[in-house]
Amino acid sequence: MAEEKVHEASRSGIREGQGGANAGGREDARSAPRQDGGRARVTVLLSGKGSNFVALADACARGEVPAEIVLVVSNRPDAPGLVRARERDIAAQVIPTRRRPRADQERDVVAALEQAQAEWICLAGYMRLLSAEFVARFPGRILNIHPALLPAFPGLEAQRQAWEYGAKVSGCTVHLVDAGCDTGPIVMQRTVPVLDDDTPETLAARILEQEHIAYAAALRQLLTRPYVIAQRRVVFG
Ligand code: GRF
Repeated sequence: MAEEKVHEASRSGIREGQGGANAGGREDARSAPRQDGGRARVTVLLSGKGSNFVALADACARGEVPAEIVLVVSNRPDAPGLVRARERDIAAQVIPTRRRPRADQERDVVAALEQAQAEWICLAGYMRLLSAEFVARFPGRILNIHPALLPAFPGLEAQRQAWEYGAKVSGCTVHLVDAGCDTGPIVMQRTVPVLDDDTPETLAARILEQEHIAYAAALRQLLTRPYVIAQRRVVFG
């Protein structure tokens, strides 16, 4: 067995081990809650309405999640989520993707996240795939919410995919982000029924209600409970 590297992240107080290859049932990563009672510095990346960002921000403000959203980044200048951030006195920055090489845009995002001393990055309707290089800069610290029960219906218009397929149950998934599209280890899922008289829109609205609960609950768990990631399974202690 290769020696496991364990380090203490100086700002967050979270211990994590990057064990390398995933073999023999060995843990890939282990994490424990910070002991100093401080709040985690969270940044949100979005492209649109930002209702998940608002739900997260409200849960933090109510003290339900021991975190502070220190920065919102949008790749779209017209994203309503930017307005909602500024209304809450949260720094909001536009880093456009249009007509720019992805590597340049991502370099600017990484710089903004580092400047904000981001400990966690929550994707909330960020309509860009992150490169493997970007993901590797923040190992195990990027979360996404997807409006379907992964691994079913990854990618765009997941609610419509589930409805068109005739699924009887759908829901949402909060997962850690890896270099694939909606493929990272699952942290939490919540389900909703698909009703006979649903349209893609009514189903999406029912799922969105659950997204708002799930995202805050998943982040709270990650910040407050020890967990291991072993062969894709996020197991809380
Ligand atoms: C949500 O359905 C989320 O699951 C998906 O994009 C949508 C974002 O909605 N990734 P909002 O901008 O948070 O309202």
